[in-house]
Amino acid sequence: MTTRENIVLIGFMGSGKSSIGRIVSKSIGFQFVDTDQLIVNRAGIEISDIFAGYGEEHFRLMETDAIASLAHLNRCVIATGGGIVVKKHNHILLRDLGFVVCLTASEDILFERVSRTNKRPLLHTENPRAALHDLFTARADLYAAAAHLTIDTSALSHEESAEKVISAARSALGWNKEP
Ligand code: S3P
Repeated sequence: MTTRENIVLIGFMGSGKSSIGRIVSKSIGFQFVDTDQLIVNRAGIEISDIFAGYGEEHFRLMETDAIASLAHLNRCVIATGGGIVVKKHNHILLRDLGFVVCLTASEDILFERVSRTNKRPLLHTENPRAALHDLFTARADLYAAAAHLTIDTSALSHEESAEKVISAARSALGWNKEP
């Protein structure tokens, strides 16, 4: 395990990485960074426009650049995009950043959450539920390989999930007291 005390959240779209990450960061006084937001800030356009104008592969390059650019950070909660695990070289970058937690939930819950907005280009298909299922299945092993720990949030509130992340990070990073 790296010596850096960051908490890195990975997981499928709708797993709560950004919302739970914000709660974790406030609760333990860490800075919060969201790689999707970083990419949008750098590109000056929304993610769906990056996909539409430049393609998914270009977005994946920006995603790798984004996590590589965070290598200097410490005591930070880093939320990532759901596809960050697709490029296997990202796994090393993620684990070098700190303690990697995968947030997950049942497919039905994820679908219910992602259906609240229209922001996910990979689900802009004729049958978004089937697209979610296919991606979820194809990526399952990738999340497991990249994460130090997986937390199923299906039955948890965001606050309860945040508590679980903090207590897992406390043991993994060897914190004896409040950081
Ligand atoms: C993606 C997930 C999105 C965003 C992009 C691609 C994916 O992030 O990075 O639309 O490939 O799963 P969220 O997981 O925050 O929705």
